[in-house]
Amino acid sequence: MKDKGKAFINTIGCQMNVYDSEKLAGILTAYGYEKTRNMDEADLILCNTCSIRHKAEEKAFSFLGRFAREKKKRPHLITIMAGCVAQQEGEKAFDRVPHLDIVLGTQAFARLGSHLDELASGKRRIVDTAESDVIFEAMPDESAFDETQVSKFVTIMQGCENFCTYCVVPYVRGREKSRGHESIVKETRALADSGIREITLLGQNVNSYGVKDGDISFPELLEKVSQVEGIRRIRFATSHPKDLSDGLIKAMGRLDKVCNHLHLPVQSGSNAVLKKMNRGYTRETYLSRISALKEACPDMALSTDIIVGFPSETEADFQDTVDMLREVEFDSIFAFAYSDRSSAPAAKFPDQIEEAVKMERLNTLLTIQEIYTEKKNAALVGRDVQVLVEGESQKKRDGFVTENKNMKQMFGRSESNKIVHFPSDQAVIGDLVTIRIENAYPHSLWGRPSGS
Ligand code: SAH
Ligand code: SF4
Ligand code: F3S
Repeated sequence: MKDKGKAFINTIGCQMNVYDSEKLAGILTAYGYEKTRNMDEADLILCNTCSIRHKAEEKAFSFLGRFAREKKKRPHLITIMAGCVAQQEGEKAFDRVPHLDIVLGTQAFARLGSHLDELASGKRRIVDTAESDVIFEAMPDESAFDETQVSKFVTIMQGCENFCTYCVVPYVRGREKSRGHESIVKETRALADSGIREITLLGQNVNSYGVKDGDISFPELLEKVSQVEGIRRIRFATSHPKDLSDGLIKAMGRLDKVCNHLHLPVQSGSNAVLKKMNRGYTRETYLSRISALKEACPDMALSTDIIVGFPSETEADFQDTVDMLREVEFDSIFAFAYSDRSSAPAAKFPDQIEEAVKMERLNTLLTIQEIYTEKKNAALVGRDVQVLVEGESQKKRDGFVTENKNMKQMFGRSESNKIVHFPSDQAVIGDLVTIRIENAYPHSLWGRPSGS
């Protein structure tokens, strides 16, 4: 393959974009590009974009916009807008970024190579936002590997049909479709063979995996992936409370490799708001799912997503969300101020909340959550946790022993996805070690190998 120069990829957005960017990198490598981490030396710049909130969208436009001057100096420079903003904007992307060469929608990734050919033959301003029922599949690309990486994402479905009223995803990612399980298992096996020890299965709502396309169910998929030798841990995201089945709760309890951690976005604690969001559950049904989980897996760590300032959210509605934090005691939360998306119905809802009120509610929520994050971390002191080793810590914690010069301070993540630092002269990247926790900090834990 002819040397086409260097390609730089900037990824904004969710885990799915991280996964897609690696596959896009694979296509570019096969096309003759060499990857670079230095955008100043790039001959091709691709930005994989996100439109979930206004800020993410602006980030994409401002990143790509800055190459206007560069393109005048180096006319051969190719700029590509890929992903969710590309899908949403189509032709309109040129209004704000006139120098773009390709606008590559979310279902057009597999056609990147042919669009580069068109560009080479003189075509300009290529837009591909066509829908496709074929899932973008490519086996792991070795060039995307960094030898210290132990964890990778594997997308198991595309699209979303839940139509939460605030959300742009159904409009930019299309209809829900599940990948065949054999291809998922094959990809997982290839990752395990190249040294990956942990995988995270991705979908907007993994609980409905296989329901529509009738392959196998999500708990069955977990079972199959668990059988892949070399993979030691399995995570998944995101679960939707309305589809969290007893079968999945049982599978989480039964399958050793599946981490004791569930990310279950609640979005709001108010029934009135949940209804307007079209979430399909009430605060009571959410709480009953949490009880079922805690009963089956008492050590289950929980995290969630919350939106504050949804149109017409009253102070009382917001208090219901605060109460939810107090009642569930999540290990961690991701909280967002509601952001108007013109393609989503909530943009037209009455009683939009002022930015200042949204910010105040966001800060209140984050401050309250700190209590529970610290409480959950403190509860681990004196207990043994299993840690997947990721590397040597950058910063040494107090208590680190230096008498033994072979001793290093290593770090990894617990099953509940908490960072754990520990001294060791033996642990290597990819090992699963048992660490007895001695100190809990707000955002990390510190301990020593159990029995040492
Ligand atoms: N499919 C997943 C995640 C989708 S996006 C789910 O159903 O949970 C990740 C998070 O972004 C959402 O959970 C939600 O909390 C947040 N989000 C989505 N649209 C938003 C908007 N318009 N404004 C603010 N936050 C939003
Ligand atoms: Fe968006 Fe709702 Fe689909 Fe999640 S489930 S991607 S929040 S529409
Ligand atoms: Fe963003 Fe698209 Fe993911 S909108 S959150 S990159 S699915």
